[in-house]
Amino acid sequence: MANNRWMLYGAYGYTGELVADEALKRGHKPILAGRSAEKLIPLAERLGLEYRVVALDDPAALQKALSEVDLVFHAAGPFIHTASPMLDACVETGTHYVDITGEIAVFRKTFKCDEAARQKNIVLVSGVGFDIIPTDCLSSYVASQVPGAIELEIAFQAISQVSAGTTKSSLEGAGKGGWVRRDGQLTPYHLGKGAKQIRFSHGKQRWVMPIPWGDLETAYRATGIPNITTYMSYHPRMIRMVKMFSPVFPYLLALKPVRGLIRTYIEKRITGPDEQLRQSGKSYIWAKAADKNGDFKEAWLETMEAYQFTAVGGVRCVEKIFEQHPVGALTPSQAFGADFVLEIEGTRRLDKLDG
Ligand SMILES: NC(=O)c1ccc[n+]([C@@H]2O[C@H](COP(=O)([O-])OP(=O)(O)OC[C@H]3O[C@@H](n4cnc5c(N)ncnc54)[C@H](OP(=O)(O)O)[C@@H]3O)[C@@H](O)[C@H]2O)c1
Repeated sequence: MANNRWMLYGAYGYTGELVADEALKRGHKPILAGRSAEKLIPLAERLGLEYRVVALDDPAALQKALSEVDLVFHAAGPFIHTASPMLDACVETGTHYVDITGEIAVFRKTFKCDEAARQKNIVLVSGVGFDIIPTDCLSSYVASQVPGAIELEIAFQAISQVSAGTTKSSLEGAGKGGWVRRDGQLTPYHLGKGAKQIRFSHGKQRWVMPIPWGDLETAYRATGIPNITTYMSYHPRMIRMVKMFSPVFPYLLALKPVRGLIRTYIEKRITGPDEQLRQSGKSYIWAKAADKNGDFKEAWLETMEAYQFTAVGGVRCVEKIFEQHPVGALTPSQAFGADFVLEIEGTRRLDKLDG
């Protein structure tokens, strides 16, 4: 472990900094990296870590930086704009890759690199944060108990706030509308449709609405179940609003001035959860796999607050890669097993609920 060197790219972003702090706490000394010297150097100096200033659009410099390490933790998003150059450079240099994306298109890109990763004897794991470790592990757990399952549903409720980076990444996908997986294919689905109530492990029923979550790609990859719906908990009023306005979202978001206004708002106003909320927040997840006869298995997970989970879970994935040396483009549950999530402090899995 001590001989394994890794780099944290996007280290001075909101989540990157949480990952850097967690890494230090667990005795790692990652090289911090990012494109802005002005933002990177003060952080590296504060944490007493080495740094490399390198832009993603400079492949030669990126490959040179990666050749110094065994693994890169990519925390700079939206990943739709940042994952490809890093993945390509990792395959070129034979460097393990993890990122914290939740974006469907990015998972697809990562899985396309499977063969190349195997040839280079490296692992590529996208989604080593709250997206998608808990949902991926719980999906694989319920799927393993329903042989021949044809339907998978996954829902979550995160008690927290979103960061600017997460909001920007969601905005990238928002104009494309809703999606579900049907008969193995990603299929458009009207946002706001299909809302229902789910009982989470805190015991209360919550309204959830189908949203295009990364598990539409990863759970299909990990379980092979052809029909998948992913839900997030919302206030019923919000669901009604989304249903009403979702037909105009793509047109509105295609307008440059509208996107500009939203970006400015996000950068000025959205800060992510503070330390207190990161310590007190929680996340609740439910998954159900069913076969064609209606036989099913459902289970629940509880985890710590989502951004805290991302830092802790992400660093645990780095450690697992150095311990176990998985190979290929894998989901977290494929790389480390469906029970991996239980190794992350504050996580509890339930097979039934009281009452
Ligand atoms: N998996 C999960 O559960 C999870 C949890 C948290 C966050 N995330 C994702 O992680 C990403 C970052 O979130 P955040 O909250 O940390 O956002 P943030 O505070 O806005 O930080 C974004 C970071 O990415 C860098 N970046 C963006 N575009 C870049 C590019 N083209 N080249 C190089 N660097 C670039 C930024 O650098 P500059 O300042 O130089 O632009 C900054 O360091 C988002 O995509 C978010 O959705 C996922």
